[in-house]
Amino acid sequence: PINTLVDPWNRTIDYLRIAVTDRCNLRCFYCMPAEGINYLPKKELLTYEEIIRLAEIFASLGIKKIRLTGGEPFLRKDFISLLTNLKKIPGIEAVHITTNGVLTHQYLDQMQEIGIDGVNLSLDSLDKENFYKITRRDEFDTVMKTLGGLLDRGIDTKINMVVMHGKNTQEVVAMAGLARHRKVSVRFIEEMPFNGSAQSATQNNWSHVRILDELKQAFPMLTKLDSHPSNPATLYQEPSHLGNIGIIPAFSRTFCDACNRIRLTATGTIKNCLYDEGVLDVKALLRSDQTDDDIQQILIATVQKREKDGFAAEKNRTVDQNISESMSSIGG
Ligand code: GTP
Ligand code: 5AD
Ligand code: SF4
Repeated sequence: PINTLVDPWNRTIDYLRIAVTDRCNLRCFYCMPAEGINYLPKKELLTYEEIIRLAEIFASLGIKKIRLTGGEPFLRKDFISLLTNLKKIPGIEAVHITTNGVLTHQYLDQMQEIGIDGVNLSLDSLDKENFYKITRRDEFDTVMKTLGGLLDRGIDTKINMVVMHGKNTQEVVAMAGLARHRKVSVRFIEEMPFNGSAQSATQNNWSHVRILDELKQAFPMLTKLDSHPSNPATLYQEPSHLGNIGIIPAFSRTFCDACNRIRLTATGTIKNCLYDEGVLDVKALLRSDQTDDDIQQILIATVQKREKDGFAAEKNRTVDQNISESMSSIGG
């Protein structure tokens, strides 16, 4: 019988986020320290065979959408072959990628051939020097080339900008302006405390409310669009723009009620929530003699452990217990 993953609060889980590596070729200061994080040895990563097997098991449980993340997913060797095989899994209706766009442009034609359903591109600045200050790497032109290439090919594209007080808040309106002539969704994200150094996030007084205020001043005709409740972004339309604008209250988390996602880290740990520290070592199961049926049952049980408020652990955290994980190893 086909089971569906439904948690105790009646939320259906049909979206799996898979991190394929913890490595990255940028050093965004809100994500990692300048020296990088201690990267995992290769044998700790799930192999592509293991990822495919697990994705098939998840598909049989009702997962319909997969997003590949990292680190930077295109750093993983032969990433295109993984995408190709994920697209072939019956039941998987959409395969999306979140990327920083540094290596991506080389693969755009292949992505189009495979039929990748969408790309979320991280872009925190439209100014070359400011891009360098934020990412500590000189890759602005390459990333812009990726953006152009995505849009020229008609690949569904969303831009992710993490909003950081005094670092790029002066660029919020300009970034939104990218949607004027291009059919792109420009999304502004509240900064979260996953910077790989257990240090407090930048003092960020840019909540989703403030971001919206800033946008409304520049675009007084801005109207709210309907979007699926599980979409973490609240979407807005400026009537004169081809594309739209989104705001993601990633820190305020006003969207948890409708959460439809489960996560797989690069090391093969299942997370019920971005903020939990991992609830199942599925790599150990894949490397044992458990059958697909056994793993199916364990995954169903794991989803039963989902908390109503997916971030209970977070609520108990005191101010001096910062999160030492980097977004790069969690997968966002
Ligand atoms: P789609 O809805 O499929 O476009 O995905 P997404 O927007 O969630 O994915 P993306 O990888 O582009 O992430 C955008 C931002 O939302 C990142 O900063 C993520 O960390 C954040 N985010 C994604 N899912 C969650 C979540 O479950 N909780 C929180 N707090 N933030 C999330
Ligand atoms: N807070 C908010 N968003 C973050 N991202 C990475 N680190 C953080 C953070 N500390 C974003 C990236 C990427 C997405 C997957 O997560 O910019 O677009
Ligand atoms: Fe920047 Fe994303 Fe790389 Fe982190 S994983 S350093 S946010 S590009």
